[in-house]
Amino acid sequence: MAGSCRWLFWALALCAVQLVLCSNQEAVEDTVAHAYVPSWMYKCMPEEGCERTTHPQHETLRNVSTMMFNSLDVCRTVCGRFGGLWPRPVTAAIGMQTVKIHPNYIRFDLQSVPTEALSLMVEMTKLVAPALVAECDGEVTDIVETPVIVYLNVKSGNTSLTWSTSEEYKLDVQTKEDQILVHVNAETIYGARHALETFTQLVASDKPTFSDQHECSLRLVSGAKIRDRPVYPHRGLLLDSSRHFIPMEDVKRTIDGMAMNKLNVFHWHVTDTHSFPLESTRVPQFTRYGAYSAKEIYTAEEVRELIKYAQVRGIRVVIEIDSPAHAGNGWQWGPEYGLGNLAVCVNKWPWRSLCVQPPCGQMNPANPALYRVLGDLYKDIAEALPAPALLHVGGDEVYVECWNTTEEITDYMKEQNYDPNTDGFFKLWAEFHQKALKAWDEALESVGTPKQPVMLWSSELTQAHRIFKHLDKDRYVIEVWEPVSSPLLHQLIKMGYKTVSIPKDIWYLDRGFWGNTKYNNWRSMYSHTLPRGDKFLGGEVAMWTEYIDEQGLDTRIWPRAAAVAERLWTDPTASVYVAEPRMQRQRARLIKRGLSADAISPAWCSQHDGKCF
Ligand SMILES: *[C@@H]1O[C@H](CO)[C@@H](O)[C@H](O)[C@H]1NC(C)=O
Ligand SMILES: *[C@@H]1O[C@H](CO)[C@@H](O)[C@H](O)[C@H]1NC(C)=O
Ligand SMILES: *[C@@H]1O[C@H](CO)[C@@H](O)[C@H](O)[C@H]1NC(C)=O
Repeated sequence: MAGSCRWLFWALALCAVQLVLCSNQEAVEDTVAHAYVPSWMYKCMPEEGCERTTHPQHETLRNVSTMMFNSLDVCRTVCGRFGGLWPRPVTAAIGMQTVKIHPNYIRFDLQSVPTEALSLMVEMTKLVAPALVAECDGEVTDIVETPVIVYLNVKSGNTSLTWSTSEEYKLDVQTKEDQILVHVNAETIYGARHALETFTQLVASDKPTFSDQHECSLRLVSGAKIRDRPVYPHRGLLLDSSRHFIPMEDVKRTIDGMAMNKLNVFHWHVTDTHSFPLESTRVPQFTRYGAYSAKEIYTAEEVRELIKYAQVRGIRVVIEIDSPAHAGNGWQWGPEYGLGNLAVCVNKWPWRSLCVQPPCGQMNPANPALYRVLGDLYKDIAEALPAPALLHVGGDEVYVECWNTTEEITDYMKEQNYDPNTDGFFKLWAEFHQKALKAWDEALESVGTPKQPVMLWSSELTQAHRIFKHLDKDRYVIEVWEPVSSPLLHQLIKMGYKTVSIPKDIWYLDRGFWGNTKYNNWRSMYSHTLPRGDKFLGGEVAMWTEYIDEQGLDTRIWPRAAAVAERLWTDPTASVYVAEPRMQRQRARLIKRGLSADAISPAWCSQHDGKCF
């Protein structure tokens, strides 16, 4: 009796639970059925951007002007002279009307692309549809829409990426009755690629902002005429993968972000004293002795794949093997292999007088074997990079005390008559660079490439009163990282050295996270301007990774690197406030395409352009 009572109780309880579940389910469905009734729309005010405004009542709906939009993204895409384009093109005329399109109905006409460049161009066109699908962070409504035909007209079949590669393009969008015609005209596939990037920025999802509906439609501006070319040929992002190993997928995502911002140089600071993650097929000891772990290695195959990945996105990879300082772990195996000390002071402690930060390490310029090993590494690099390969030889922060306390080096200096009390160490340091450059020239020769300039950090050796004695201006491009207050950049330009600027107090993304350094927000990074002139190649933004790894990488880099990108592409004269609505749009775009770009204002401000300053 007691047993069946209990059974009855459980049966009733189960029923009750089911009832609750059922009615809950109804409640949920009910909410979905009446999904999202917006109480506002977005109004375009051409001078200021888009502003949230009360949704008009139904009676007046037919009077709603073409300046009102349900979707903030669509509003930003058509509003203002440059719509939602980032970096800002030289000139743009963008219509207010939009047409529905579908990524499956975009066709590329490649008849006017030279055969030599065709396969790369095809790879580039394949990136367009995914970028558009990402815009609609749901499913693109599958209705046949007006087809889009993109005519690609590329003049040159030259696919090399150098400081003189043309990146100029023309982009025209025209809507006919039954189709949309897009004309791209460019000298090279890289210009054409930039045009396609811009094309993706003329598309937005019409989903009302904060709507919970799953599907959305994509709208393309029905008419646009854009003329564009960059101001500076060198627009770089430096990523350090030695202080922390950055997994390949995160490196690739960073490359994606660069492509979206038309940055064109990936400066890969791949080695340092801390670790050596770059696999060398000729010298496997580098990673065996220098990688943090078996997993934290970039295999030769992965590196080749990355270089191709970057090229398809219009980006040249510059590999930096920092030398003669900033070299330690990965270089300590010389004695074991009968080659003597390739590096000295490796992991020495106390470190303070021997290097800038622990662990210490500096190459041993007195050891001839060093140059043979370096030459083998250079050969691997010259074979991996597309011609003409660009190498960064480092060259920063040599600590004289390390060499001066190493007997085999001071003995060598005596032999060479290098006076340790005057300029002897500079002679030794310059001799190192000459020998390293010779090894690089030989590596290039082995792949059939003539001598190329290499990049070199500014240092004591590149001071205006010293550089001309030691470094040939036709062979070295100096990357100046002195603070903006330093005269060095202008001095070197005046002396005829080609230069790249990466001012540490303003374009270093790690600032504000260690010591007393100051964080620079996107506005101050954007507001910094650079010199103009043919000896001046451009700039870079730097992600040193002492205090960051892949966990926080995106928010640290983006969208601040985008601010630098526009400075380098456009060098606009208008204030940062004029740029802000477009920056909001670019930040949203980065997120849609999978990069966790940081916020730049409260959400309310992002819905009310021009109302928060
Ligand atoms: C709506 O537009 C019509 C025709 O242009 C005009 O006569 C009417 O006054 C407008 N109504 C409102 C509320 O603006
Ligand atoms: C390709 O273009 C580069 C400039 O980017 C130039 O230096 C090189 O000579 C060109 N190659 C050929 C084969 O024309
Ligand atoms: C190198 O060491 C010697 C001997 O200790 C010293 O006299 C000299 O000043 C040092 N040179 C430099 C540049 O520090």
